Amino acid sequence: MLNYHIKPEPDQQRLLLLDQRLLPGQEQYFVCRNADDVVQAIREMVVRGAPAIGVTAAWGCWLAALRLEMDGLDKSRYWEPLLNEALQKIAQARPTAVNLAWAVNRMREAWVDLGAPDLASLVKAWQAVAEDIHADDIELNIRMGGHGAALLEDGDTVMTHCNAGSLATAGYGTALGVIYAAVEAGKKIKVIANETRPWLQGARLTAFELQKAGIEVKVACDNACAILMQRGLVQKVITGADRIAANGDAANKIGTHGVAVLARHFGIPFYMAAPFSTFDFNCASGKDIPIEERAPEEVTQFRGQQIAPQGVPAWNFSFDVTPAALVTAFVTEHGIFKPPYFRSLKKLRERAGQL
Ligand code: MRU
Repeated sequence: MLNYHIKPEPDQQRLLLLDQRLLPGQEQYFVCRNADDVVQAIREMVVRGAPAIGVTAAWGCWLAALRLEMDGLDKSRYWEPLLNEALQKIAQARPTAVNLAWAVNRMREAWVDLGAPDLASLVKAWQAVAEDIHADDIELNIRMGGHGAALLEDGDTVMTHCNAGSLATAGYGTALGVIYAAVEAGKKIKVIANETRPWLQGARLTAFELQKAGIEVKVACDNACAILMQRGLVQKVITGADRIAANGDAANKIGTHGVAVLARHFGIPFYMAAPFSTFDFNCASGKDIPIEERAPEEVTQFRGQQIAPQGVPAWNFSFDVTPAALVTAFVTEHGIFKPPYFRSLKKLRERAGQL
């Protein structure tokens, strides 16, 4: 399991993040020493993937408090508004993946539970909470994989979109976790990694970690989905998700909706794997999910080189919403949930202890 990409170093008062922008060519760490570094790392895609940015955000809160302590602010009460400001910045670093706000809320709750702690006690308590969030994420991905593995058959070729693997989580992965678990159960699984324009998470990251794990992977252009499915080269599709609304509409990397439409057209099961922290029951439907729009240059340029004529604008929605009706089932750490989602997601909330 690739699990060295989010590396807190409390003794060095820093957080190291494997810079995913440079993979697969270089393995280099981005050093975070304060909340602003963490916000920059999340915004600029040093770390990405819904659960991974949640875990990073938790460490970011700890780092923000630690920084204030190191700057000697523990003697005054000024640290509280400064810390609140830092937490807000972290929670807003990217808008779509709900795991980010979820993690910051968990840190806030731990703060409230402590009453009115001094800064040193808060730093200590937050380190333990961040460690828990980090370890829980790996553990629940493994559980999710165990549930989802039953959906894959020996000999299947599975298509995935973007990267929902170890790199997108604290380790093991959501969609790729299901594939890892099926392989560990002795099934022979091949993977098609859609390249995932414009950041190429599929070609760079999914292919990187599957190759490292010894799983056969082939990269395909995003626009090759239809021919691959038409030729019977895909038996299942499984992706991750960034935010799932109460009715089962699910935001994931741009292009996922198109893959789901094609899967339905060709009669191929389309699964989404995500932890409970990715479900947002405050969003009634996909219409309420904020969709991040990133800089047009990410589309009109490639590695600094202009590829569209100068001055031509570009759409750059980072995510789209797959309607619940196209999702065959959700795989979570609490089991597999099938339509009708108004009923099954209620059961998910009960199992997660939320109802
Ligand atoms: O823009 P990214 O790379 O953060 O988008 C990531 C995705 O869309 C993933 O599929 C999603 O976060 C699920 S990760 C387990």
